[in-house]
Amino acid sequence: MRNWLGLEGKVAVVTGGSSGIGAQIVASLLEEGAIVYNVDLHDDDSDKMNYYFLKTNVASLPEVKKTVEKIVESQNKIDILINNAGINLPRLLVDVKGEKPEYQMATKDLDLMFDVNLKGPVYLSQEIGKQFTAQKSGVIVNVTSEAGQEGSEGQSIYAATKAALIGFTRSWAKELGKHNIRVVAIAPGILEETGLRTPAYEEALAYTRNTTVDKLNGEYSKSIPIGRVGKLREVADLVCYLSSEKSSYITGTTINITGGKSRG
Ligand SMILES: NC(=O)c1ccc[n+]([C@@H]2O[C@H](COP(=O)([O-])OP(=O)(O)OC[C@H]3O[C@@H](n4cnc5c(N)ncnc54)[C@H](O)[C@@H]3O)[C@@H](O)[C@H]2O)c1
Repeated sequence: MRNWLGLEGKVAVVTGGSSGIGAQIVASLLEEGAIVYNVDLHDDDSDKMNYYFLKTNVASLPEVKKTVEKIVESQNKIDILINNAGINLPRLLVDVKGEKPEYQMATKDLDLMFDVNLKGPVYLSQEIGKQFTAQKSGVIVNVTSEAGQEGSEGQSIYAATKAALIGFTRSWAKELGKHNIRVVAIAPGILEETGLRTPAYEEALAYTRNTTVDKLNGEYSKSIPIGRVGKLREVADLVCYLSSEKSSYITGTTINITGGKSRG
């Protein structure tokens, strides 16, 4: 059924839209007829209709303020915010083997991940939230992770930021529901490769799990009941649905999208 979601002409802001999940969310929202602003550190240099790029560090409040002002100035409204930008540096609480002290969590790792994964969504939601409350409508979709629900060996800082984002989602939904604003989160599991899975990331994760990069890759889909990793388009489809009026009674919750993967 064409236009089932009714996203034509909706103004959507996607953070981290130049790579991976974010790039697919941008593409899928554009396919649905939305006007999409990609808020990222770098552009993907593509030339698409109804697509705009605004170079922004989501962890910088002055930059976020300027970006949101520009969007409101040119569109007079914002309908959808997708807080997708995120980073993941695998780190151990204690490097028991003592071979790679750089993989034991340090203040700089905590600061960077808290800044991007938490302050970023807070700054965007606050600045766009002001517009949402003024116009009495809007949807925030926070991209968290199954790691935030279940924990993850070698990725505790990342998991903690994603758990906190799940907490923000619940609370913001309670604060903003009366203003006709929904706040939802999605928690993807293991997906097709994205920019997040760099060689440096895999090397660090393999060390924290006392395994090798090759073995790590072999293990990825074994724990998934559906027997394969998730497609970026499957995640973007869920985001489009949650951004639309078709999900008008869903708020304050986290939708898990993991092919059935869960604890135990
Ligand atoms: N890939 C997975 O398997 C997976 C699973 C669960 C959740 N997630 C979450 O999905 C989101 C997207 O991940 P991805 O795998 O597509 O990663 P990715 O690295 O491919 O893309 C992340 C994008 O965010 C941008 N970004 C990073 N820091 C930024 C900053 N300070 N300001 C603005 N933009 C910034 C990057 O430039 C990049 O374009 C993240 O929040 C991640 O935690 C990913």
